[in-house]
Amino acid sequence: MFSFAKLVETDEVEDAAPTRARSQRRGASTSLDRVTFAYPGEAAAIASTSLHVDAGELVCLVGPSGSGKSTILNLIAGLLVPTSGRVLFDEEAIRGPGPERAVVFQDAALFPWLTLRDNVEYPLKLAGMPKGERRARSEQLLRMVHLWKFEGSHPHQLSGGMRQRGAIARALATDPAVLLMDEPFAALDAQTREILQGEVERIFQETKKTIVFVTHNVREAVRLADRVVLMGTRPGRILREIAIDLPRPRRIDEERVAWFAADVASEIRSEVEKIAKEEADDAWVAPGGPVHVDPRRNLGSGI
Ligand SMILES: Nc1ncnc2c1ncn2[C@@H]1O[C@H](COP(=O)(O)OP(=O)(O)OP(=O)(O)O)[C@@H](O)[C@H]1O
Ligand SMILES: [Mg+2]
Repeated sequence: MFSFAKLVETDEVEDAAPTRARSQRRGASTSLDRVTFAYPGEAAAIASTSLHVDAGELVCLVGPSGSGKSTILNLIAGLLVPTSGRVLFDEEAIRGPGPERAVVFQDAALFPWLTLRDNVEYPLKLAGMPKGERRARSEQLLRMVHLWKFEGSHPHQLSGGMRQRGAIARALATDPAVLLMDEPFAALDAQTREILQGEVERIFQETKKTIVFVTHNVREAVRLADRVVLMGTRPGRILREIAIDLPRPRRIDEERVAWFAADVASEIRSEVEKIAKEEADDAWVAPGGPVHVDPRRNLGSGI
């Protein structure tokens, strides 16, 4: 484990031989303790919400649009400060963003003017890591996401799936203990998405990082999660937590994945119907009846 604090002062240090990549930081726990958060001038986006994610656990947040999933991720990232309650990392209060908590968003935020490798090395350069060590680390990460062949390519030369893999490699560069992923595969086609789900599961098992993963795709949640956290709206809150006790690696088309997904999807449907009724202010009935939901469908960002 390297210390960023010690390296910040060092300038562009050219160490003689490439250093072997250091051992990885394992996952740490993170939690929300009765957290309420309201954007300025708005009603609470999440109200009195408590969530504990164990070290090395993969938790998926699912729920309708506006239920506060991104808000929770941004609170753990330290980008938002709770209105009341506490957000903890490894039992300590979070005071802002830090390299031990990395975020991957829906659209890979790679710098277009840098090569893939330079993108991955960028946060390490900022942290003052010597060049040789940086080179070793970026190679290790790009190999891990199977992009080593493309290390010299610029983002526009890569497919959307490759860019997301690059973004995952960059997020892992600072060796975070917690990886926060906000609908990272929402813009990708089904096949690419399935491949990347496999990548996330493999990286999760190899690195033992803690992962909080937001998705609208119920099957994706069940395929990936140790625990699915189902969220509701008005205000955003946790409705139910469902442990997914299935062996890994999993497949998206497994019968047991489908079974769990149908259960989660029918709960989401009730919640969506509730919102629609409130908004329509009449006896609105969801087309297709109250229970039939095809959990293979991506429920979309508008659910
Ligand atoms: N920057 C903002 N300013 C004001 N209100 C906001 C802001 N961002 C989110 N909200 C509100 O906070 C609530 C929770 O939003 P959030 O983005 O966390 O939901 P979400 O579950 O991630 O939704 P989606 O599935 O659409 O991404 C919503 O009512 C939303 O309108
Ligand atoms: Mg969101």
